Amino acid sequence: MQNSQALFERSLQVAPGGVHSPVRAFRSVGGTPVFFARAQGPYLYSVEGDRYIDFCQSFGPNILGHRDPDVEHVLKQTIELGWCFGACEPYSLELAELVKAELPWVERLRFVCSGTEAVMSALRVARAATGRPSILKFEGCYHGHADSLLVKAGSGLAGPSASDSAGVPEFLAAQTLTCPLDDEAALEHVFKNHGSQIAAVIIEPMPANYGLLLQRPEYLQRVAEMARANGSLLILDEVISGFRVAFGGMVERTGIRPDLVTYGKVMGGGLAVGAYAGRADLMDLVAPAGKVYQAGTLSANPLAMRTGWATLNKLKTFRVHSVLEERMQDFAAELKKVLQPAGLTVTHFSSVFWIHPQTGKPLRSLTDLPAGMGDRYKSFFHALLKRGVYMAPSGYEVGFLSLAHETPVLDEALGKIREAVRDIG
Ligand SMILES: Cc1ncc(COP(=O)(O)O)c(C=O)c1O
Repeated sequence: MQNSQALFERSLQVAPGGVHSPVRAFRSVGGTPVFFARAQGPYLYSVEGDRYIDFCQSFGPNILGHRDPDVEHVLKQTIELGWCFGACEPYSLELAELVKAELPWVERLRFVCSGTEAVMSALRVARAATGRPSILKFEGCYHGHADSLLVKAGSGLAGPSASDSAGVPEFLAAQTLTCPLDDEAALEHVFKNHGSQIAAVIIEPMPANYGLLLQRPEYLQRVAEMARANGSLLILDEVISGFRVAFGGMVERTGIRPDLVTYGKVMGGGLAVGAYAGRADLMDLVAPAGKVYQAGTLSANPLAMRTGWATLNKLKTFRVHSVLEERMQDFAAELKKVLQPAGLTVTHFSSVFWIHPQTGKPLRSLTDLPAGMGDRYKSFFHALLKRGVYMAPSGYEVGFLSLAHETPVLDEALGKIREAVRDIG
């Protein structure tokens, strides 16, 4: 097979920027993206045959690691049955029932193919239910690439050189109000001026797309209260945190109950799944039960439904979240010591972590972020890459532990991180 450089040159001829999702292009870290030929457990293997410990884990879905044997078994069984029916089947029902049985706030749910679609559809329901036009989102939160949400967003739009997307009409962007995170006064101000127009407040309850900006529980509570008091719906975007920080995501961790909730990533176990869910009276507005139209040729694809089911079933049966929680505590304690000489540290929650410069205080909003963060990450990223550790190719993306990141793997990674820290000194 050709090497990564040659493959990327070919890709540039067929795809914008050579990629099918922006962060993959290495623009914020520089250099040529590594092309991976295969993956196994905690590892990715490049087309050159090099092994990398993978802390990106496909940006979150692979909570069990790559090619978990139980998920793979179910996937292979399902392939034998066919993989695209465009009709009713029992597999989506089984996954939906598993979710509903565990999460009481999921009274109804609709499967789609991505987090973006889930969020876009939830907003449509909120607008239909309230008859109001506006949405309130928080600066630095990313909710996928639906037009209304590409305003002060994170992920590929994070960092000083990025801006909001071109191609979003001003009249539409004007319906998206924004507010800084961690700022009750700003929140009250927006509601005072626009409360009667706000259909929904949407927030990542664990903001993880502009670094990991862990919120104070009382702030999240205040967001929920303000939404309720103003007749706006609360949408918790759990595309990253759902089934990741607990089976019940941040709803379970905080006790804050949403009107609508969006899922993706872990829910599909690595295949294309998203879902929006919540109160039955709201979800029953969706076609064909109601007048909010939303449909999908590939929705509830049997392969994705079965890998999702196998993943969630394993999470539950093997109490995977407590294993990961404990592993992360130990890993983060060591990582902090290893990073210290470079002036870096780690913020973590459950199996999600973010390496960033030390500032001496918790980072909760964009204004807390130190200047020059991205530049520092570039050299660190490449020092790790050359030693076989693959982090997300942007300093604003978080890292993930999976069940496959067992202690010897993490010890090996710590050794390599220690060497990388020496390099960047
Ligand atoms: C919180 C959140 N919402 C929505 C999305 C969009 O999901 P997708 O990339 O599957 O469209 C993401 C993706 O990273 C996300 O992190």
